[in-house]
Formats: sequence, C-alpha cells, structure tokens
Amino acid sequence: MKILLLGRDGQVGWELQRSLAPLGQVLALNARSQDYCGDLSDLQGLQATLERYAPDVIVNAAAYTAVDKAESEPEQAHRVNAEAVGVMAQAAARSGALLVHYSTDYVFPGDGSAPWQEDQPVGPLNVYGHSKLAGEQAILASGCKHLIFRTCWVYAARGSNFARTMLRLACERETLGVIDDQFGAPTAAELIADVSAHAIVAVRRDPQRGGLYHLAAAGETSWCGYARFVLEQAAALGVPLKVSAGQVQALTTDAYPTPAKRPANSRLNTQKLQQAFALTLPDWRQGVARMLMEIHGK
Ligand SMILES: NC(=O)c1ccc[n+]([C@@H]2O[C@H](COP(=O)([O-])OP(=O)(O)OC[C@H]3O[C@@H](n4cnc5c(N)ncnc54)[C@H](OP(=O)(O)O)[C@@H]3O)[C@@H](O)[C@H]2O)c1
Repeated sequence: MKILLLGRDGQVGWELQRSLAPLGQVLALNARSQDYCGDLSDLQGLQATLERYAPDVIVNAAAYTAVDKAESEPEQAHRVNAEAVGVMAQAAARSGALLVHYSTDYVFPGDGSAPWQEDQPVGPLNVYGHSKLAGEQAILASGCKHLIFRTCWVYAARGSNFARTMLRLACERETLGVIDDQFGAPTAAELIADVSAHAIVAVRRDPQRGGLYHLAAAGETSWCGYARFVLEQAAALGVPLKVSAGQVQALTTDAYPTPAKRPANSRLNTQKLQQAFALTLPDWRQGVARMLMEIHGK
C-alpha cells in the first residue's frame, strides 16, 4: 500500500510517521520537501505530487492552524484548509484512493453543554472554523472514499501547545490566570495517529466504514482545569514551578480577548467512532500524564 502523508512535522503528522510505518510504503512530506511538492498553498505542485506518487491512501495532517492569525489571513487559511483539500479529494475520487483528513470542533457554534454529534448543524465562529468546514465540504462533494476525524485540543510532547505553554509560564511567572468557561477534552496526537492507522486498515477492508467521525479523548475539562492538572503532575515529577496548581486563577473568556472568537463548548461525542471501529477512547488525563512523563520523567 502506498501512503502519502502531508504535514509530516506537525503534532499529528509526526505521530502519523510512526503509526503509518507498518501499513505500507509512506512518502512523508512537509511544506519544504524538495523531490515532491508538499506545500498545500501550491495547488499545482500538490496536484503533480498526487499524480506522480499515485497513493492508495492520502493522509492530510497539514493545516493552517494559526487560529488568531487566520482572522487577518483568510485567503491563505482557505487555500490550505479548503482548496488544497479539494485538490486531494478530487484526485482521490479519480483514482479510488482513500483520503484521511482532520477537522475540528470549531466547525460548531460552541453553544450549549452537550457533546457535539457528527450530524448536528454546523456554524463556525471564526475564519479558521469556516476554512476547516469548507475543507470537509470539498471532501463530501467529491464523492471520494474518506475518513474525516474532527478532533479538539490537540497536544504532543513535540511541538507547541497549551500544556507546554502552561508549564513554561508556571516556571517563569509569579501568577497565572487561565480561562475556565471553555470546555473540551485534551487529545493526544499519538492517540489520533493510532486511531487513524487502525481505521485505515478497517476501511481498506470494508469501505462502508468510511465517513465523518469525532475523535477526542474521554472526559472533559476547562482550560483552567487542564492547566491545573498539568501543574499538579509536573510538581509531582519535581519540576520547579513558581505557580502551583492551586494558585492558578480562573478567568472568564471576556477577560482574555483574542482576535478569533472561540467556542465555549468543544465537547465531542465519540460514540460513532467507538462503535464503528470497536475502540475505547482513554480518559484525557492518561495521555497528558504520559506526555509530561515523556518530557520530565526520570
Ligand atoms: N491543534 C489543535 O488543537 C487542533 C484542534 C482541532 C483540530 N485540529 C486539526 O488537526 C490537524 C493536525 O493539527 P496539529 O495540531 O498537528 O497542527 P500543527 O501541529 O499546527 O501541524 C500542522 C502542520 O501543517 C503544516 N503546514 C501549514 N501550512 C502548510 C502548507 N501550506 N503546506 C504544508 N504544510 C503546511 C505546518 O507546518 P509549519 O509548522 O512549518 O507551518 C505543521 O507542520 C489539523 O487538520 C488541525 O486543523 C487541531
């Protein structure tokens, strides 16, 4: 099986390099790759890569993920998150390849407190969310075989993310305030990558199992709860913190204005995924504790 992995150096892309390796021959590209174009803003170059490599599976972990910057760069966000995905989807529809793609809870309006189900009405609050939704729609419109995983609050031991930022700030600053009225489940890039590999094998055997799925760790917390858990674990590992878990102040979203509006409810209902692929998704704390052990464990 020939697999094309785009966005190999992102949080999820890095873990996919590992989880896809046993499945077949993987060509893993980033935006700077030379032999084959892996730059999603170069639509012709991307098209040429798809034609020349002729993959059986396209795994797209590349995305314009700078949520606030997207507000002032909507065209660039749309090209990478929607137009390039459309190029992949059209190529997959023509060749019969399976397209695996990642999307986000930001396609939803973020109201209420119930975990979002796949078939609920969408309504993005920001440019990034609109661009990711357009990417999903391009895949559905193409009729290609696909797996779309909407996920949320992604972290990894490698790359920049909320948990690592909290650790750094708690070592540098005397006080720390974190938003306590947005809810979701921190989800490990390695979990996303492992589930992706499992699902690819299943869908290659039985194409009926393709489709759109929500993929997130079990349980829920706020950003503040997440930060406190990270600091608790880090303290237990002997990291010298200036701010302890108990000293983290809870803020409301209003107190922390950002260019892009964020959803308050990022909870995702993952029943469909768990049933379709006979999976049990672990509690979010398990992966976060493991990531901290990886960074700071002795
Ligand atoms: N991070 C989250 O919390 C989160 C939440 C929900 C959904 N998702 C989705 O999950 C997927 C994986 O996210 P992630 O957390 O792994 O993101 P990430 O760490 O930001 O990785 C995205 C990768 O895409 C690359 N990229 C950006 N523009 C590109 C271009 N024009 N051509 C080729 N590559 C390009 C980036 O490269 P550079 O670093 O060199 O720009 C980066 O390596 C994305 O589809 C994202 O929308 C993420």
